[in-house]
Amino acid sequence: MNETAIERNGGVQSGRPILEVDGLVMHYRTKAGDVSAVEEVTFALGRGEALGLVGESGCGKTSVAMTLIRLLPDNAIIKEGSVVLDGLNVAELTDGEMRKHRWADISMVFQGAMNAWNPVYKVGDQIMEALEQHFPDMSEAEGRVRIAELFELVGLSPAMMDRYPHEFSGGMRQRAVIAMALSCNPKVIIADEPTTALDVIVQDQILKELRKIQEELGMSIIYISHDVAVIAEVSDRIGVMYAGRLVELGATDEVFPRPRHPYTYLLLSSTPSVVGPRRRLAPLEGEPPNLLAPPTGCRFQPRCPFAAEICASQDPPSQELAPGHHVACWHWEQVPELGRLEA
Ligand SMILES: Nc1ncnc2c1ncn2[C@@H]1O[C@H](COP(=O)(O)OP(=O)(O)OP(=O)(O)O)[C@@H](O)[C@H]1O
Ligand SMILES: [Mg+2]
Repeated sequence: MNETAIERNGGVQSGRPILEVDGLVMHYRTKAGDVSAVEEVTFALGRGEALGLVGESGCGKTSVAMTLIRLLPDNAIIKEGSVVLDGLNVAELTDGEMRKHRWADISMVFQGAMNAWNPVYKVGDQIMEALEQHFPDMSEAEGRVRIAELFELVGLSPAMMDRYPHEFSGGMRQRAVIAMALSCNPKVIIADEPTTALDVIVQDQILKELRKIQEELGMSIIYISHDVAVIAEVSDRIGVMYAGRLVELGATDEVFPRPRHPYTYLLLSSTPSVVGPRRRLAPLEGEPPNLLAPPTGCRFQPRCPFAAEICASQDPPSQELAPGHHVACWHWEQVPELGRLEA
């Protein structure tokens, strides 16, 4: 938790959040049927806040992000809900209207983006192209000054802007991706697995710097990762996704020491750095369901050690257990303290 960033931006609790996601449902149409990738997802992002989204592969984290920034493939349909960015419902904008807001108001570091640089153009020129689209009056000299500033911000030497992607290390390429995402001064930035492909030392450096930049610029950020330890370090609050649903949401310093959803419990229990080396780990067995035909009732029920009859027939509603701590589980009271459920 970082109190200073929150205070400086007027408090996360007070004032209207920068982003409000309400009852969002997004499906992919496929020949085999609808993939229920985002189901009734509701959360808000405070000004200057860092929210982490965590969950196993295929739980819908990227799908939520792509819906927020409206970069969905043709087979995707937003079925219900709203996404309000600083008072503007982006779910209702036309593609042309959305183009004006994407990158300038909400931007994203894409999963795997460090490998997406075009090898035949200099990195600076590729960022320049993005800048030109949003600031048509900006001269080339002004653009270069801006890119130099951005490079310094993310820990790259400004001289690197005239180099080609192959001259950058993996960590440097990822820093340049972050510079690109910051280039239009967005209000909200989504970082989808921003450091997953990097070694742990570089990962740690980049995350710390990203955190510092976010605080300095008073930006709001959504971090996405399957790695709960990474999320814990950088997020004020965390949201846990399972099979398209947000099953737990709360302050990181409440959820981590005392998760209330069985999935969060097992996810944390199976991470040695969270439970500590001496505790026995409870395994998270099996895999998330196929979202073409998700289980009835609670989607976690087939893997849940606390599942009872009601879980297979009725979807648990999200309950607010304490201010700001939401859990969707019929049996949250049975979830023990971390380390208590033995393997
Ligand atoms: N274009 C698409 N068409 C059909 N199904 C899709 C499409 N893109 C994603 N899906 C499905 O949507 C579900 C959610 O995928 P998503 O990529 O959002 O998960 P994720 O949590 O980001 O996973 P990862 O950690 O692997 O990045 C998965 O079942 C996936 O197979
Ligand atoms: Mg993803």
